[in-house]
Amino acid sequence: MREVNFKWMAWLAVAGLAAGTELHAQEADGANAVLPWAYVLNDPAGDAPAPDPDEIVTVPGSSVSMPRSAINIDNPPPDWHPDGHPPMPDVVARGGGEGVVACGYCHLPNGQGKPENAGLAGQPYEYIVQQMTDWRNGLRRSGEPLMGPPSFMERIGLAATDAEARTAAEYFASIDFRPWIRVVETDDVPATRFAGWIHEVVEGGGREPIGTRIVETPEDPARTRLRDDASGVIAYVPRGAVARGRAIVATGGDNSVACAVCHGEDLRGLGPVPALAGRSPSYMARQLYDLQTGVRDGAWSDLMDAAVRNLTVEDIVNIVAYTASLEP
Ligand code: HEC
Ligand code: HEC
Repeated sequence: MREVNFKWMAWLAVAGLAAGTELHAQEADGANAVLPWAYVLNDPAGDAPAPDPDEIVTVPGSSVSMPRSAINIDNPPPDWHPDGHPPMPDVVARGGGEGVVACGYCHLPNGQGKPENAGLAGQPYEYIVQQMTDWRNGLRRSGEPLMGPPSFMERIGLAATDAEARTAAEYFASIDFRPWIRVVETDDVPATRFAGWIHEVVEGGGREPIGTRIVETPEDPARTRLRDDASGVIAYVPRGAVARGRAIVATGGDNSVACAVCHGEDLRGLGPVPALAGRSPSYMARQLYDLQTGVRDGAWSDLMDAAVRNLTVEDIVNIVAYTASLEP
């Protein structure tokens, strides 16, 4: 069992970066070294052969079809289920000014999000606006600069205007976040590799011990690759993690404080404080670590200090296993 409080390790990493002579030191010292399952870096090469770009693709329950090549970050997000969300404003469907990529491409048209980004649906308007302000002010960064999507979000957040942020916030806050994560407690998991910044099950790869981590992987990799916003995620978590997490959340346990006073009785958010229930455990784990190490240091982040200060890796696994298991 890991008893180390890893805050000092992160300080070493920051100190190492500040010294700054050897940039590749970043690779060994970034947050991926501590929580590799949450700050996913793609495996080098060895990918499956690229699928045929001209193939006409569709997803179950949709009458929409398109060539695979249309699904591309330079295009509007594929909108497989236009009846599943309100009409998207331009910034969500097409992007905004220079550098402001369409929010719906990564966060999906209905805002359910993916493990490598975040679910925005149902988060409070004021909270979303505040996060965009924090990025614009350079106060919200990621513990693992080598993980592509969070670094991309940093650049988008720097570029987005307050008006664009408010339009997007109004849209996502107006949508109910739906059940999306199926939490499965287990001792062993299918072997996975890292592609597209997430865990992908290796066909015929057998099983391996889960250890102290969470393995979040699509219910249907083909649909997730097509950015289907009606196909969710499985989160394999260690046996007993949900009950251990429930205890920490309720009382704070030895290393934290009770959460409901700020996040609401059912962790569905309270006023401007964000909802945690039923949301990606990988995303939430990255935030707990980024808040602990202080790379996420927005206007409201100090309110989380007592909750995160002494968390261990195991605490984080337990907490996010529990929050992901809750009904949103
Ligand atoms: C290239 C993909 C991408 C695009 C496009 C994108 N985001 Fe994000 N966004 C991310 C990632 C990745 C994260 C999670 C960062 C992390 O893990 O630390 C994120 C996180 C967020 C969060 C934080 C959620 C929370 O619970 O704190 C907000 C708010 C957000 N994005 C808003 C937007 C808005 C508004 C737009 C459009 C203007 C947008 N994003 C476009 C990738 C993207
Ligand atoms: C004193 C109030 C307070 C308490 C207690 C508190 N939180 Fe928070 N939490 C906040 C606020 C405010 C934010 C937004 C921080 C920011 O804007 O940077 C937040 C953000 C978070 C986030 C990031 C959410 C996201 O969408 O990015 C997580 C995860 C989180 N809290 C988990 C917890 C857990 C787990 C506990 C209990 C162990 C807890 N919090 C206790 C106020 C609190």
